[in-house]
Amino acid sequence: MAELAGIKALNTQKNRLLIAIDGTAGAGKTTIGQMLSARLNLNYLDTGAMYRAVTLLALQKGVSLAPPDEAGLTELARTLNFVSRNATPEEAVDQRQYTVLVDGRDVSEDLRSPVVEKWVSVVAAVPRVRSELVERQREISLNAPGGIIMMGRDIGSVVLPGADLKIYLDASPEVRAKRRSKQSTDKTQEEARQNLEKRDRVDSQRAVAPLVVADGAVVIHTDHLTREQVMEQVEAVLAPLLVK
Ligand code: DC
Repeated sequence: MAELAGIKALNTQKNRLLIAIDGTAGAGKTTIGQMLSARLNLNYLDTGAMYRAVTLLALQKGVSLAPPDEAGLTELARTLNFVSRNATPEEAVDQRQYTVLVDGRDVSEDLRSPVVEKWVSVVAAVPRVRSELVERQREISLNAPGGIIMMGRDIGSVVLPGADLKIYLDASPEVRAKRRSKQSTDKTQEEARQNLEKRDRVDSQRAVAPLVVADGAVVIHTDHLTREQVMEQVEAVLAPLLVK
């Protein structure tokens, strides 16, 4: 078994580890997913970027969002040519957390733009868009060597309900807005807070795969915790899954 940063590899019979990280926007899912990915030497996928990519394409191609052209959006999701990878040091100067290529073009910055923020929950509420992307996400998890860490809203509940570890991260709107205004192109923290609250509302109230705490998920409230402290809590629940 491979040595993984001081911990020996996975104690599951299948020798694969699936980790679901769900929660509200700006609660720290990507940061913690990336730290875990480095710790465990596993790939990660931030599924929100896929919904954002479909939204960006819809805006660029003039597919209607109000009212949503469900067939058009579903076709964009079905044919989405999406690659997500770690940002190079040169790319990371714009504060991005990773790089996304759509049709081979770097759209990382566009995915964080206010117009994408504004419309992405509408796209994420379209049932057939979700089923296309969920299928893709499952396929990616099956092909990922050693398993995967997946971040989103419905990973523990819908995409990978059999995940070995489910984490649900949350924080107050104020703290999340502060974190998000550093990453997105929202002009002010207040603007970021309003956007987050609106998106949380739509994400939690939609009919299909709403944001919920999945069965068996460990809930961590991150308001007063540093990223290292969150990681300590995650590692505590992870430890029994790993062979010492
Ligand atoms: O995590 P994020 O802010 O990049 O997510 C963008 C939007 O996509 C957000 O409104 C929630 C939605 N989303 C979803 O519905 N399901 C997922 N698995 C991931 C994101």
